Amino acid sequence: MTVKKVRKAVFPVAGLGTRFLPATKAVAKELLPVVDRPLIQYAVDEALEAGIETMIFVTGRGKGAIEDHFDMAFELETTQKQRGKDMSALEGTRLKPGNAIFVRQQEPLGLGHAIWCARDIVGDEPFAILLPDEFMHGTPGAGCMKQMVDAYNQVGGNLVCALEVPMEQTPSYGVIDPGARNGALTEVKGLVEKPAAGTAPSNLILPGRYILQPEVMQILETQEAGAGGEIQLTDAMASMIGQQPFHGVTFDGQRFDCGSKAGYIEANLALALERDDIGAHIREFARKLVA
Ligand code: UTP
Repeated sequence: MTVKKVRKAVFPVAGLGTRFLPATKAVAKELLPVVDRPLIQYAVDEALEAGIETMIFVTGRGKGAIEDHFDMAFELETTQKQRGKDMSALEGTRLKPGNAIFVRQQEPLGLGHAIWCARDIVGDEPFAILLPDEFMHGTPGAGCMKQMVDAYNQVGGNLVCALEVPMEQTPSYGVIDPGARNGALTEVKGLVEKPAAGTAPSNLILPGRYILQPEVMQILETQEAGAGGEIQLTDAMASMIGQQPFHGVTFDGQRFDCGSKAGYIEANLALALERDDIGAHIREFARKLVA
């Protein structure tokens, strides 16, 4: 089977980030750091590692600093160079010229609507979607999107990352109605966004990583608002089941829901403990704190 290469990734970053107010009043949620890198940088690195070249950011008002983050910081770089300072921390913050594209979602009408705003840039090819507030922590060289692209190259069609959570958490997420399972791959028979408590078809949720065929854009064009009054990507994807292959891939790694305060603190703690420069210090501090 020949599948078209995944070359483009969409990063929806136009949400209001209300769960993090007041921190996100003037600062984009996606720029909140985990230790010393903003969430959006981890997501872009994950896409680059998977061989994706073009990064499409769907932004909104007040999110301009995301654009600056991936640009040259002229004063900073020139001054630091003149002072003979190490600039390695900025590696990866500048994308290849022309490979960072920004479009605006004027109103936060929902994730599905945000993705649809990128339709002309995505064009007629499969594309990835990464929600930067979902921090997927894999081993180097085998991040979540890399694992998904590898699986996609085998099965083609549409692919979502699938994650098991306790059943009582399912009303907060898009949930998979699973079919046959083969290793890390699960056939997707149906999808439901934010099911009412006790009605979820499984405890396999969608934690914010997708590889989709471009036909989803045509469905989103006329997609009505769904759960929470928002235009839901899950509803549009559900319409494609049965028309095109659809699978879930279980991610081999750690997931932190950095859209929630607890998940964000957990990510910071876990990443800090892994660091050569501060890990020992934080471990000792945490030990004393809980003693
Ligand atoms: P969330 O559901 O986390 O919403 O969106 P949010 O507004 O960012 O945060 P809270 O719930 O108010 O705290 C998931 C992803 O979809 C993007 C968000 O930026 C986030 O990356 N999104 C959501 C959009 O780009 N546009 C929308 O209309 C909604």
